[in-house]
Amino acid sequence: MRSPLPTALPGCVLRPWRAADKPELIAQANSRAVWRNMTHTFPHPYTPEDGDLWLAIAANPGASLQLAIEVDAGVAGGIGAIAGEGIFQATAQFGYWLGEAYWGRGIASAAARALADHVGAEGLFARLEAQVFEWNPASMRVLEKAGFARDAVLRCAATKDGRLIDTVLYSRVFPNP
Ligand SMILES: CC(C)(COP(=O)(O)OP(=O)(O)OC[C@H]1O[C@@H](n2cnc3c(N)ncnc32)[C@H](O)[C@@H]1OP(=O)(O)O)[C@@H](O)C(=O)NCCC(=O)NCCS
Repeated sequence: MRSPLPTALPGCVLRPWRAADKPELIAQANSRAVWRNMTHTFPHPYTPEDGDLWLAIAANPGASLQLAIEVDAGVAGGIGAIAGEGIFQATAQFGYWLGEAYWGRGIASAAARALADHVGAEGLFARLEAQVFEWNPASMRVLEKAGFARDAVLRCAATKDGRLIDTVLYSRVFPNP
């Protein structure tokens, strides 16, 4: 995607990451509260080297989508859909995060709805899925508002922050017409 994808929230668009985003990326991502809800690929502390690595990945996403969430011209966080491989090529892992300063304003809901609708409208994947940690009801609500359904509770599926926890699997599907 080259041009920004609008969302229903005024001032909030999804657009490709840029090299110049590095300072804002690090400022927003360097948060224990964000890290605690993300997979092991999201580091803490979030160093300048982590920022370089991420921007290099996002510059060459292949079949995946990796976009910055921009709010009033500032980088608020990121959202993406990581393409599966082989028999799972039509499935993508859907994920998003916001810097703490941006929480509680409907931004993730607007961003998730916009990207999921875009995937469906463009036929990019047949299935988007996300695993949410048991202690993250706000993210479960974000997914429900973006048209995802709760598929299952995956018991004892993840180890995070020193605890063995359940995850809740959500998906939104776009079957062949
Ligand atoms: C989870 C996260 C993305 C939410 O972003 P956000 O922009 O604050 O979310 P929104 O404002 O769009 O919506 C949150 C919804 O959850 C609800 N919510 C918030 N806290 C809640 C709680 N403790 N229990 C139930 N619902 C809750 C809100 O009321 C809102 O629903 P509503 O619009 O029906 O009122 C953000 O907190 C974040 O980035 N967290 C760290 C990373 C993360 O969790 N990523 C997702 C991994 S699966």
